[in-house]
Amino acid sequence: MATNPEIERRRTFAIVAHPDAGKTSLTEKFLLFGGQIQVAGAVKSNKIKKTATSDWMDIEKQRGISVTTSVMEFDYKDYKVNILDTPGHQDFAEDTYRTLTAVDSVIIVVDGAKGVETQTRKLMEVCRMRNTPVIIFVNKMDREAKDPFDLMDELEEELVIQVRPLTWPIESGPRFKGVYNLYEHNLNLFQPSKQVVTEKVEVDITTEELDNRIGHDLADKLRGELELIEGVYPEFNVDEYLKGETAPVFFGSALNNFGVEELLNTFVEIAPSPRPVKAEERTVMPDEAKFTGFIFKITANIDPNHRSCIAFCKVCSGKFSRNVPYYHVRHDKTMRFSSPTQFMAQRKTTVDEAWAGDIIGLPDNGTFKIGDTLTEGEHLHFRGLPSFSPEMFKYIENADPMKQKQLAKGIDQLMDEGVAQLFVNQFNGRKIIGTVGQLQFEVIQYRLEHEYNAKCRWEPVSLYKACWIEGDDLAELEAFKKRKYQYMAKDREGRDVFLADSNYVLQMAQMDFKHIKFHFTSEF
Ligand code: G4P
Repeated sequence: MATNPEIERRRTFAIVAHPDAGKTSLTEKFLLFGGQIQVAGAVKSNKIKKTATSDWMDIEKQRGISVTTSVMEFDYKDYKVNILDTPGHQDFAEDTYRTLTAVDSVIIVVDGAKGVETQTRKLMEVCRMRNTPVIIFVNKMDREAKDPFDLMDELEEELVIQVRPLTWPIESGPRFKGVYNLYEHNLNLFQPSKQVVTEKVEVDITTEELDNRIGHDLADKLRGELELIEGVYPEFNVDEYLKGETAPVFFGSALNNFGVEELLNTFVEIAPSPRPVKAEERTVMPDEAKFTGFIFKITANIDPNHRSCIAFCKVCSGKFSRNVPYYHVRHDKTMRFSSPTQFMAQRKTTVDEAWAGDIIGLPDNGTFKIGDTLTEGEHLHFRGLPSFSPEMFKYIENADPMKQKQLAKGIDQLMDEGVAQLFVNQFNGRKIIGTVGQLQFEVIQYRLEHEYNAKCRWEPVSLYKACWIEGDDLAELEAFKKRKYQYMAKDREGRDVFLADSNYVLQMAQMDFKHIKFHFTSEF
């Protein structure tokens, strides 16, 4: 896609999964292949959340949950791999969705025994919205797993995408023998080990050698299954993968570093280099000479000694250079950055330049908002990042009358960071915070207290969904707002939001006001 070799060699992606499926373990193995850590298992599977990924907030340390997003980068073969880590907790799903707007492709990890879980389904929905190319890794094959053909059907149905196995497992659990690579036509025999990458053996499956390796019965079974696969699934087509229509599927065990090398090798080969990015004005190509980028994430307290934020910027085109003035479109002013950083887990180093596809950290003290665009002077606005209707709502009230200003500023900045969503009820003027999970409320309260010296109190409000409303018939829109005046709110951009207190009420509203569109994401 890109003609500049520096950009062409970049692979910027995220590994996503339902919690516990094995995202951390797989990330660790990738880091091992990338030479970023020396011994697998040195970072204990769960510990990686505390050591190799972001560990910036006290609350996170206390709870041992990876709350924030970080970036890990390494060279592998001729490629520069950028992994965007995503929070390991469901309550921060919104963060993950936002991170997905900054990646060019995704690897989804699925637990072989559990199959597709809720969070996987949601993440896939976000990928589909942007036609993000997806590779699926079915993990934990060393444990008793579902039948692989059933799994294929489940993936296809639940994730609404065509699938194409590129490796195929020989049994699972204690009987797990390994995987057969359908493309290289070799066999990778399983031996449980966190340290050793197993040798692959070239086996002509039509010969007795296969029987000698895995036994006669399994050899016969494998031959039958491979025949079936070739009959059922069309030839793997890279273009269909790149369009987000087909997902290649790999099997393995991240914990045992098994099947991971094949995954990584295929990934770097077929995954897209930085893709064109849509701005409101035009589509920006990655190899354009001039730098453009957008902020997709803001994180506080990376350095606990300074109350500073880091704004994560995805370079969309050209080359970013340190100390060069760039144009901050929303503020209509020029800024230069003397200490942009790149990341390897907690280590961050100052960078002099970064190319399209890279993620850079820009020190921030309130100048950035999620979605802000930087350019070399062009008035560009990268498309709004979607906000999803929150799942939980609470009124936020001031608990310390002396700190009204601090509270307002804190709420404002935390919302700029995208920690949660703020709606102002037009009827009573009260502020409502919407989140994906309970933990976010706790983070907000904690951060308001520790960073802004403000105290808040939560009060219950019973709401089901926030819907952005839109309609061509202004009279109907006005009639709706009048009828629902107690439930009308504005989001931070001043858009009309209907706060439905139950599914029933929402359905009735949809029936009564047929020409009004009710959107569950802010991107429409
Ligand atoms: P996550 O980031 O997606 O939440 O998952 P993570 O990698 O932390 O893995 C969740 C649990 O599943 C961990 O066990 C991990 O060891 C285990 N696991 C990951 N991959 C495999 C695999 O291929 N085979 C098997 N059998 N287990 C796997 P834990 O008990 O929570 O942690 P730990 O005690 O192992 O550190």
